[in-house]
Amino acid sequence: MNHTLLIEQTEAFVREQLGQDTTGHDWWHSDRVRNTAAVIAGIEKADVLICTLAALLHDVADEKLNPSKEEGLLKVRTWLDSHLDNSGQIDHIMLIIDTMSFSGGSGAPMATLEGQVVQDADRLDALGAIGIARTFVFSGAKGRPMHDPDIAPRGESLQKEYRDYSKGTAVNHFYEKLLKLKDLMNTSYGRKLAEERHQFMLGFLDQFYKEWNADGE
Ligand code: ADP
Ligand code: NI
Repeated sequence: MNHTLLIEQTEAFVREQLGQDTTGHDWWHSDRVRNTAAVIAGIEKADVLICTLAALLHDVADEKLNPSKEEGLLKVRTWLDSHLDNSGQIDHIMLIIDTMSFSGGSGAPMATLEGQVVQDADRLDALGAIGIARTFVFSGAKGRPMHDPDIAPRGESLQKEYRDYSKGTAVNHFYEKLLKLKDLMNTSYGRKLAEERHQFMLGFLDQFYKEWNADGE
């Protein structure tokens, strides 16, 4: 199958699988990760087809959208088996998705350049203006308040396990996770983009506290 058709069919499958999600794993997240991964892949000289397919599919196997992680991974492999005849490429894409799905990708190190590119692109989508927007949408969906200075005056890291939504606020999520991501980037171009988005988030937090404090301090 030619690459353009394969990518179109993958897009249709991902749209069908993620269309209903409102917790940050929607189609447009996958679409942004795919576009960012293609840019990084071009600069880092990684295989663009592998990066594109892995980026598009990376959240389809997520355990939040499936009865279990194993069933999610099997669904992706079954789909790839019937659309791609190169078993080396299928195994590579599955390795990337499997490694990324370990608690948001903070588990085993990514073994291949293509995996590093896709993981960087996924992390970049949690940073900058988009990252800020996703954090507040996600927090609203989970009932987390925007900010509470009685809990943590200037945010701060409240807990290691940021998936416990009963504690903490949207602003805490910057300290729990987002401000740590730039130091976890794999590729040098990914790190450069992360640094810019990191600075943007620091500027956002400064302005946020300034307004919160009636433009004082
Ligand atoms: P992914 O699987 O794409 O790496 P996650 O499932 O960890 O992402 O998160 C999806 C989006 O929701 C991200 O933008 C992330 O920053 C945000 N998010 C995740 N956990 C929290 C939380 N505890 N509080 C606020 N936002 C969160
Ligand atoms: Ni993702």
